[in-house]
Order: sequence, then C-alpha cells, then structure tokens
Amino acid sequence: MNDDLNSDQIKVCCADFYQSDIIKLLLGDIMHPGGLELTHHLGQTLGLSKNKRVLDVACGRGSSAIHLAESFGCQVTGLDYGTENIANAKANAKSKEVSAPTSFKLGDAELLPIDDGTFDAVISECSFCIFPDKVKAATEIARVLRPQGKYGMTDITINEPLPEDMQSLLTWVSCVAGAGAPEQYVSTLKQAGFGNFVVQDHSNVLLTLVNDIRKKLLGVELIAGLGKLDMEDFDLNKAKRLTKRGIELIEKGVVGYTLITAIKL
Ligand SMILES: C[S@@+](CC[C@H](N)C(=O)[O-])C[C@H]1O[C@@H](n2cnc3c(N)ncnc32)[C@H](O)[C@@H]1O
Repeated sequence: MNDDLNSDQIKVCCADFYQSDIIKLLLGDIMHPGGLELTHHLGQTLGLSKNKRVLDVACGRGSSAIHLAESFGCQVTGLDYGTENIANAKANAKSKEVSAPTSFKLGDAELLPIDDGTFDAVISECSFCIFPDKVKAATEIARVLRPQGKYGMTDITINEPLPEDMQSLLTWVSCVAGAGAPEQYVSTLKQAGFGNFVVQDHSNVLLTLVNDIRKKLLGVELIAGLGKLDMEDFDLNKAKRLTKRGIELIEKGVVGYTLITAIKL
C-alpha cells in the first residue's frame, strides 16, 4: 500500500485491501480479533435485545450484523465502504435466512447516509482505528444514535509510541497507522458527546489472531509458490515481519485490543 494518500484514497485503498483474496484467505468473513464470541460479548455489554435498531459501521462481509440479528433478535443495518463487502454481506444474510431483519448499505463512516436519531445502538469492530478523521466518524455515530443510545467498539490500541519499523508496517496493513491509546479513543468520543464509558482489555484475542495469521502465511507462501494465488500488492515478507514484531509487541503490552462502550449524553 502507498503511504502518501489523501483521505478518500485511503478509504478506497483500505476497502480494496479488506476485499482482496489474500485477506479473505487469512481472515475469512470475520475480520476482527475475538471472532463472533467477542461480538456476542459486545452485544451483551450493550444490552441488545429484540427489536433494538443496531448499526454496524464498517461491517465488512456482514458476519457480526448477522450474528447479532440471529442471537439478540435486533434489527441490524450494516454499512461499509467496500462495494464487494456489501454485496457479500447481502448474499450471506440471504443464504443464512436470518430470522431478524438485516440490511446492508454502502457508505462512509465519516458521512453516514442515515437520518439523525435512527438507532438504539451502533457498533464498530476493528474499524475505528482505520477512519482517517476519527472526530468526524464519532460525531456521525452520535448523530445517528437516539439520545441515550449506546456505542460499542472493539479496536486495536497502541499503548506507547511504536518503534519506527512497526509504524511503517502498521501503516501498510491498516491503511493509516491510526490506532491510538484507549484514553485517546475515549477523549475523541467525549468530544462527540459520549459519556459513561466502559473500557475492557481483550488483548489476548489479538495475540491469538496474529498467531493464527502467522501460521496461515506459511500456507499462503506455498499456494503463491504454485502460482495459484494472485498476490498483487501483497508483500509476503512484510506480512511475516509484521506478524513476528506484532506478537512481540502484544506480549509486551505495547499493542492491544480494547472494548469500549459509551452512551450518547
Ligand atoms: C478490519 S475490517 C473489519 C470489518 C468488520 N467490522 C469485521 O469485523 O469483520 C475494516 C473494514 O472497514 C471498512 N472501512 C474502511 N474505511 C471505511 C469507512 N470510511 N467507512 C466505512 N467502512 C470503512 C473496510 O471496507 C473493511 O470492511
């Protein structure tokens, strides 16, 4: 990925990255640490229940939206910047014959195509760190929530400045090295009108995911060697370095994964 992109180019580039074959191979349909188990925990922490209207911002291929609709009976809308992701999410919901209503739409987290006060709850998983203008995204999330509506995120957190090599590796993988400390996310959310924060550390699931990816990269190397995988912009050596350094930094507590919930005041 190119490091010198403007905000719109970053979003397109990022959506393309998360729609690529290589990412499908490495992450499957659930593109966040902790899988649906952590999504379920997030739903419980937010107190989701039947008929609640929920928005999943940057929903990827819709797995979490479908899970929340099935498990809690809420009406879930998924929104993502990637056209292919939205098409996949619609197809997944159709094939799974989800019992509660789900819908999926194309859109930008920083300019949500949604009326004010539409939702009881909004979630985002492993996505807030990607949005170039976080205050804008948080303000949009607050706008589409009803008063006292809840926002819940799980996301990559960086607890102290990263070594330079890791900074450039993260920029490559997450479009912008946009992750911050939990306190920074809380401060951004406060600016957007949120309060009553709950913050939980879930760094163990990030470690599990990065270890899994590391193992899968060996398989990718094999398939690519046979010429059966389009690697395009994907730099396998960079990915191997990133996962190796990532594991070290997660173990040291420099990089983590955090759940934050908040209420629109
Ligand atoms: C790491 S994936 C997470 C996807 C999903 N939340 C999940 O857990 O499976 C990040 C997602 O953010 C989406 N995305 C990136 N920038 C966005 C933006 N500005 N607005 C909406 N979606 C965006 C990408 O297309 C991608 O699907």
